[in-house]
Amino acid sequence: MPVPASHERVEIDFGDRSYSILIGSGLLQDPQSFEGLPRAAQGLIVTNTTVSPLYMAALRAALAGRHEQVHVLELPDGEAYKDWKTLNSIFDSLLGHGADRKTVLYALGGGVVGDMTGFAAASYMRGVPFVQVPTTLLAQVDSSVGGKTAINHPLGKNMIGAFYQPQRVLCDLATLKTLPPREMSAGLAEVIKYGPIHDLDFLDWIEENLDALVAREPAALAHAVRRSCEIKALVVGQDEREAGLRAILNFGHTFGHAIESGLGYGEWLHGEAVGCGMVMAAELSRRLGGIDGAFVQRLTRLIEAAGLPVRGPALGAERYLELMRVDKKSEAGEIRFVVLDAPGSAKVRGAPDAMVREVLAACCEPA
Ligand code: NAD
Ligand code: GLY
Repeated sequence: MPVPASHERVEIDFGDRSYSILIGSGLLQDPQSFEGLPRAAQGLIVTNTTVSPLYMAALRAALAGRHEQVHVLELPDGEAYKDWKTLNSIFDSLLGHGADRKTVLYALGGGVVGDMTGFAAASYMRGVPFVQVPTTLLAQVDSSVGGKTAINHPLGKNMIGAFYQPQRVLCDLATLKTLPPREMSAGLAEVIKYGPIHDLDFLDWIEENLDALVAREPAALAHAVRRSCEIKALVVGQDEREAGLRAILNFGHTFGHAIESGLGYGEWLHGEAVGCGMVMAAELSRRLGGIDGAFVQRLTRLIEAAGLPVRGPALGAERYLELMRVDKKSEAGEIRFVVLDAPGSAKVRGAPDAMVREVLAACCEPA
């Protein structure tokens, strides 16, 4: 597939479902970015009311030669809309336009749009092709890659979904220019995550380049997105359906998902909850003997410097435990955490409730 030289590319190996992640500026408006993808009579761009005015027209123009008709569906913006009702509006649109099983869906937006569009693509007529066009840092470094798709349930985050791989991921770094600072910080949480679980050199690099990332310097962003995608591709290429290894990508998420569900979806951003959750998971790792206090402090400092909260909200220990039991990693009611068994290495294991209560007491605001 011809790709302009200035674009970087990370391959993700799923056998005959392998695909490319393209990383560069100006990708979504470049028809070449879509070469080799399925052609069909119809394409549907799924986006939201915030992203649509910014980037939809450019994407639609780039797709004009690929489909006879390119429809657009604007979803309401926000984690609170990552639900059945909004998902159903995608099916309404597809059926309303007489979309067939070759119709290509394009997810233009952050992780919320990407996760819902992916789930719609997995389910409509039992599966139609889709392309991820992530426009948040978080979506470029994590959610658009690896095929996890889902909606939330009031009782648990991302509880209803499917593994379904996109045909391509286009990380257009130029879109990050319009991202609000709070959303940049949220994305940095998922970038930071890759350091403690897999790559201490990358952790060093993030610490040295945090200011450049916050300032959105193109070279720094390109490196952060590429290295994050490389690590994610390596992990999910070995364990697509999270039989084991893939779970390490959920470092900080058990605590983080409890914060998101406990406060109500959208109160804290997903990345904020993950950032704070990583502090809690690091403290648990220390108590379990995997890392020392200095490494916990190092991570906490970096997470705070990235503009993320480092103290959990006052949900109360019992509520945290109740929420964490609903986590997808739980087995027979036992909460399982991603912990660091050494700096740069993670594994999944249980922990005594008493120890988790101590971590919550140490890391959260008093209830
Ligand atoms: P999001 O999709 O809500 O986007 C954040 C905000 O930024 C929204 O208001 C959005 O409209 C706006 N926005 C998006 N792109 C913009 C741009 N370029 N300029 C200006 N505004 C822009 O949130 P997110 O952080 O991208 O994703 C979080 C979601 O991703 C959560 O639902 C989480 O569960 C999911 N997630 C999924 C995976 C996975 O593997 N599938 C991994 C991590 C997170
Ligand atoms: N974000 C975690 C995963 O994709 O597995």
